[in-house]
Amino acid sequence: MPELNRQEHFLALADWSRDRLEEMIERGIELKRRRGEPGAEQPLAGQSLGMIFAKSSTRTRVSFEVGASELGASPLFLSKQDIQLGRGEPISDTARVLSRYVHGIMIRTFEQSDLEELARYGSVPVINGLTDRFHPCQVLADLMTARESLGADLSGISVAWIGDGNNMAHSWLNAAARFGFRLRLACPEGYEPDGDVLEAAREETVVELVGEPEEAASGVNVVTTDVWASMGDEGEVQERRRAFEGYRVDGDVMQAAAEGAIFLHCLPAHRGEEVTAEVIDGPASRVWDEAENRLHVQKALLAELMG
Ligand code: CP
Ligand code: NVA
Repeated sequence: MPELNRQEHFLALADWSRDRLEEMIERGIELKRRRGEPGAEQPLAGQSLGMIFAKSSTRTRVSFEVGASELGASPLFLSKQDIQLGRGEPISDTARVLSRYVHGIMIRTFEQSDLEELARYGSVPVINGLTDRFHPCQVLADLMTARESLGADLSGISVAWIGDGNNMAHSWLNAAARFGFRLRLACPEGYEPDGDVLEAAREETVVELVGEPEEAASGVNVVTTDVWASMGDEGEVQERRRAFEGYRVDGDVMQAAAEGAIFLHCLPAHRGEEVTAEVIDGPASRVWDEAENRLHVQKALLAELMG
């Protein structure tokens, strides 16, 4: 099996140093400031980015397509159903073939191991656009949003995660470990994050699992949540609705947070389930900046990996 050099790809936040992640955030902020200036550099002129999607997407697809174009690269949308991968062509063969055409690959899929196989067998940088285990591009954009809104050194913030111990929760755990900030999670019983991701974070920083959303949010700067049923969990929607009742970010939860605390959600959101309309459409919400920041921080990532 070919070796996997994790620094040549962006598979999980845990693979990169804090300095390199900080640099992406700073460059993202700079690219945001300079967007649309005449004569913007196109460091990826003449290159192509393959984008494989085995799941739906609005933000990831559009932000990567627009971002790649702005850097001068041509994005190719490759729905899994429409390429031979969906008819059983091995990932390793797909990786080797695509690497002969494109200069980088972004993939959204189910298994983290499939993403890693693509990176192992290909010879171009691979970016994780969401797997069942991690969503690193999203949390990088979330950290950029926290930096912009709170103006703080990220090691000094505190974050509450309410709800499912899913791919987003895992990436927040990775981020807490890298930046050294405090993370408190309130997850229903049986829906806690994977033990290995939790333990790895606990070796680096303070991570607490508590019972109630308000307890998790007490005194924190960032309150964040995600859908009760992720892509792939469609068969468990009813069961999850019962289990997650009460794990909702509402006005009381935000009230428990620190003064000036912000609310983040990767989107898409279900108002009335994991968050009330009052919160997501209210003054503490930064979800539109958060969605926008995907574009800027991913441009920094594309330039770093493909430039
Ligand atoms: N947050 C996020 O990744 O959104 P999409 O599923 O629309 O890409
Ligand atoms: N946890 C969600 C995130 C969507 C962007 C999912 O995997 O569906």
